[in-house]
Amino acid sequence: MPGWSTLPGVERTTLITGGSGFLGAHVVAAAVARSQAEGTLAEPLGPLVVAQCRSSALLAPRFCSPREAAQWIEADLLEGLAGLLERVQPTEIVHCAALSRAADCESDPAGARALNAEVPGQLAAWASTHGARLVHVSTDLVFGAEDAPRGGFSETAAPGPVSEYGRTKLEGERAVLEALPTATVARLPLLYGNSAGRGLGASDSILEQVERAERPRLFVDEWRTPLEVSCAGAALVELLDFEAPGVVHLAGPERVSRYELGLAVLTSMGLSLEEAEAELQPIRQEELDAGAPRPRDVSLNAAQAAEALSVELPGVSSGLARAH
Ligand SMILES: NC(=O)c1ccc[n+]([C@@H]2O[C@H](COP(=O)([O-])OP(=O)(O)OC[C@H]3O[C@@H](n4cnc5c(N)ncnc54)[C@H](OP(=O)(O)O)[C@@H]3O)[C@@H](O)[C@H]2O)c1
Repeated sequence: MPGWSTLPGVERTTLITGGSGFLGAHVVAAAVARSQAEGTLAEPLGPLVVAQCRSSALLAPRFCSPREAAQWIEADLLEGLAGLLERVQPTEIVHCAALSRAADCESDPAGARALNAEVPGQLAAWASTHGARLVHVSTDLVFGAEDAPRGGFSETAAPGPVSEYGRTKLEGERAVLEALPTATVARLPLLYGNSAGRGLGASDSILEQVERAERPRLFVDEWRTPLEVSCAGAALVELLDFEAPGVVHLAGPERVSRYELGLAVLTSMGLSLEEAEAELQPIRQEELDAGAPRPRDVSLNAAQAAEALSVELPGVSSGLARAH
């Protein structure tokens, strides 16, 4: 793969920030699986995968087995980043924590900037000083000012966010690469899959609403290249083993509307197409105020990562089959 090479194996301590989040829980599971495959979780060394969360670690969802295979640490990154890093001394970091709800970023731009832009810069500066590998998680919503070209935005396309979330995440990307040019900034698309019954992500949120007989309203004029969340987690962990400086896109191969994704979610649960259509309301963006400006088409082209990684970046039907 041009510009990518495999890093030599080192004794490692892997820190996953935002380990309690929708994505982070799957990154923790993938990191534990990788350590188990390598035998580095064996006693007496103890767990070398450390997961950070802000609220109660006891309540954090765990997809790994055994549950205690990762060590959990509660820390608010806005106040406790330096202390966390000094305590853990990670050799590698997957940074998932963020203010991830676009409406929250719109109502609290300063808070969004602090967590989505300043914290990643500080983390990258620490990684630079201490020689740690950093994979920083970003988003397709750094695009949106223009529609994606046919085939999706490539890594070299010029970003153009339309929301505070997208703007602050783009600032975070730039802060990371300025402090640590060897870091990998992994842009992810809309994620779907198992959220441990929390109704998070693009599929569980729909299933939860359908269960409450709410008939979810889904856009027919908003397109993404969605990815199943456990595959995203595994791909991020695999990226730790590459020297892949700069921006990398991780996304599914299919461009679908939110409504098409909703139909796929429900038919994957055994409904007929007619039954699925009856459960959903197709709407256009102009019909709903979602609390933040919404782009139309932020499809990503992830051909480079799909070729380089052994983890599959599946299409919607095989991703959903894996998820539910
Ligand atoms: N979900 C998607 O479809 C999607 C798409 C593209 C990119 N992404 C990116 O993927 C990453 C994870 O997103 P997600 O959907 O998993 O978000 P999420 O479910 O909202 O999780 C956010 C995580 O950040 C932690 N966090 C929030 N504020 C914090 C603070 N001040 N200090 C420490 N930790 C804090 C949360 O901890 P607590 O739970 O303990 O509060 C949680 O673990 C983000 O960088 C996001 O931009 C997500």
